[in-house]
Amino acid sequence: MKRIGMLTSGGDCQALNAAMRGVVKTLVHNEEEVEIYGFLDGYRGLIYGDYRMLTGKDFSGILTKGGTILGTSRTPFKTIKDPDENGLNKVEAMKHNYYKLNLDCLVILGGNGTHKTANLLREEGLNVVTLPKTIDNDLYGTDMTFGFQSAVDIATNCIDCIHTTAASHSRVFIVEVMGHKVGWLTLNAGMASGADIILIPEIPYDIKEIVAAVEKRKKNSHFTIIAVAEGAISKEDAKLSKKEYAKKLKDSPYPSVSYELADKISKLTGQEVRVTVPGHTQRGGSPCPYDRVFASRLGSEAANLILKGEYGFMVGYKDREIVKVPLEEVAGKLKCVSPDARIVKEAKMLGICFGDGK
Ligand code: F6P
Repeated sequence: MKRIGMLTSGGDCQALNAAMRGVVKTLVHNEEEVEIYGFLDGYRGLIYGDYRMLTGKDFSGILTKGGTILGTSRTPFKTIKDPDENGLNKVEAMKHNYYKLNLDCLVILGGNGTHKTANLLREEGLNVVTLPKTIDNDLYGTDMTFGFQSAVDIATNCIDCIHTTAASHSRVFIVEVMGHKVGWLTLNAGMASGADIILIPEIPYDIKEIVAAVEKRKKNSHFTIIAVAEGAISKEDAKLSKKEYAKKLKDSPYPSVSYELADKISKLTGQEVRVTVPGHTQRGGSPCPYDRVFASRLGSEAANLILKGEYGFMVGYKDREIVKVPLEEVAGKLKCVSPDARIVKEAKMLGICFGDGK
């Protein structure tokens, strides 16, 4: 008999349900008797003992369903050791609920912040197995996270739609893509949709280079598509300290980097510029087939680890293999796009401008 606690934490994404289904189906199929405790709204449910007993039936029919049947919330790691508003020690409360329910293990699905807390719980002696979710694909220790390919599809479709209207009106269009501090999503959606300029946080841009690229396109095509990561940053801003940059953003009259760019490009080129922000649509709806398969495989492997009693790992994907990665290697690190990566070089060879003049 295995008693499993399960939770989804942080921003949601496609295929969270597919991954949980993969875990439970594999456990049930392998004839272990299982009790599943689903904690609601992420770590909040574990802290306050808010859970639902689940059976195999709850995981039936959810392979294609977006969101998470358990609900989620953000419980920032930096305040996890601080008492809550009623003085409750959150870490001790999570441990208390784990032991009270006599759990064999926790299955935790999440991104960067989630993994820091998962690793803390491991250090505190709890059995933990994690699964890598995020549309940002910024989790260290895995080449791919589930949710990412679905988000690439949505962002690509958005830029595809923008292409036709940009061409009709001879306009410059900026599409702002999610991705938090990294550029994986923008790079992939931008290349998939034939963007002319791709701006990502890892490669700070020079506005002069962008203007030159727009002017060059004006001679032949009259329209330009710019895929901008929400975390894109100019060369000057990249020189500021974290604190100075945060202040600059706070005081900025623009809602995001795209609007600042739009203003500058229209003033410097005289061309009409429009901004489109697909925002949270990139995290919504059904997982794409790739993510359904990928999340099911990861979930199945997580169940395998549980059956073998191997804990303290994230199930990830490295060099085309499903692998187990020690949590201490994952927690607290970010997987960024290297400016020297082959894919970046190839994109540049295709003529895509990254705003760095290289
Ligand atoms: O981490 C996923 C993500 O969608 C990021 O791409 C984005 O910056 C952030 O979450 C948005 O967070 P929230 O849903 O809290 O607005």
